[in-house]
Amino acid sequence: MAMFPPCIPNYYIKKYSEKGQNVLDQFSGRGTTTLESCLLGRNGIGIDKNPLAYILTKSKVETPERQEIVNRINELWNMHSGDTADSCDLESVDWKIRMLYSDYTLSQILFLKDELKWREDSVDAFITALLLGIMHGHSNGYLSISMPNTFSMSPNYVKNYIEKNNLEKPNRNAFELLHKKLDRCYQVVRVKGKVYLSDARNLDMIDNDEIDLSITSPPYTRVIRYGDFNWIRLWLLGEDGKDIDKRLFCSGSLSEYEKFMTDVLKENYRILKDNSKAVYIIGDVKSRDKGDVVYNLAEFVWENCAKKVGFGLSSPILEDRIRDSSKVSRIWGETKGRATETDRILVLEK
Ligand SMILES: C[S@@+](CC[C@H](N)C(=O)[O-])C[C@H]1O[C@@H](n2cnc3c(N)ncnc32)[C@H](O)[C@@H]1O
Repeated sequence: MAMFPPCIPNYYIKKYSEKGQNVLDQFSGRGTTTLESCLLGRNGIGIDKNPLAYILTKSKVETPERQEIVNRINELWNMHSGDTADSCDLESVDWKIRMLYSDYTLSQILFLKDELKWREDSVDAFITALLLGIMHGHSNGYLSISMPNTFSMSPNYVKNYIEKNNLEKPNRNAFELLHKKLDRCYQVVRVKGKVYLSDARNLDMIDNDEIDLSITSPPYTRVIRYGDFNWIRLWLLGEDGKDIDKRLFCSGSLSEYEKFMTDVLKENYRILKDNSKAVYIIGDVKSRDKGDVVYNLAEFVWENCAKKVGFGLSSPILEDRIRDSSKVSRIWGETKGRATETDRILVLEK
C-alpha cells in the first residue's frame, strides 16, 4: 500500500549514486526502492517493521533459484497429500477467515501456514510471498471468494458483501495456484539485495557512514493503517493487523510525528557518508479536526526534524501532484480520509 512509482527512486538512484554503492530505504514497503537499486547495479538495502513488507521486499531482492522453489512447492504438495491425519482443525479457525475459503482450500492454506518457515528460509519466504499474493482477489487465480479489492476490507463489510452477492466459496488448489503464480511473476535480479525486519529508528545492523544514498517514503501520520488494511494476509503470517499498527508508526498527532521522524532522521544521518543525499517523499495530509486545513508534512519534517539533526536542504522542496488514480489511498473516493493529491520530495544532504 502507498507504493511510490518506480520512476522516482530510479531517477534519484541514477542522479546520486554509482554502481556498486549502498542504497537504503528505511521504510521499504513492497520493496520499490530496493528492487530498483538492485536493477541499477547498486546494493539495495531495505528496512521495514511490517512482516508483510519484509517478505515482499525479500522475495524481490533475495530471490532463490526457480528450480528450488518448484521443488519445495512439490515437496509441500506431497506432504499434504500424504497427510491422512485430521491435523487441521477447521472448526477452530476464526469465522472471518472461514467465510473466505472452502474447507478444501482452507485445509491446504493452514498446512502451508504451519510449514512455511519464512523467517529462516529464503525459498519458504518466496513461496510465502506467492501465497500472500493469491490469498484474495477477483479471478480464479485467487484462493478466496471473489473479492474486488487488493487490500482487505473490514470483516463485517466482507460478510455483508458475501451475503448480498450470494457468493460461494470456491474449491481451489493452493499448490496448483502457487505454481501458476510462480510462472506469472518469476524474475531474478543479477545484483542481490538485503532486507531487515526492523524498526527504522534502530539500524544497529548498519555501520556509521556505510550508506551512499537513502530514498524513502515514511508513513504520513495515520493516513494508511498498514496492518488493519491487510488483516487477511497478516493472519497467514500469524499476526493480527491491529497489533501490527500498534507496533508501526500510526498516529494522527503531529507532536508524535515530530518525535518519530526526528529519531528516524538521526539514525539516517549516522549511517550516511558525508555529503551524501537522503531523499524523502512525503504527502500533504488534511487535518483530522480542522475542516479543510492541509499540513505540508515535508516542510514540517524539514523545519522541525531534519534541520535539528544536522542535515542541509540540497534543493528546494519539490511538489508532485498525483492526478491519476495510482495513489492507493485515493481508491476509497469520498471516504479516502486525510490523504491529498500532493506529495513532496525533500532532498537532504549530510
Ligand atoms: C509509505 S509506505 C512505503 C512504501 C514504499 N515506498 C513502496 O513503494 O512500497 C511506509 C512503510 O513504513 C512501514 N513502517 C511504518 N512504521 C515503521 C517503523 N517504525 N519502522 C519501519 N517501518 C515502518 C510500513 O510498514 C510501510 O510499509
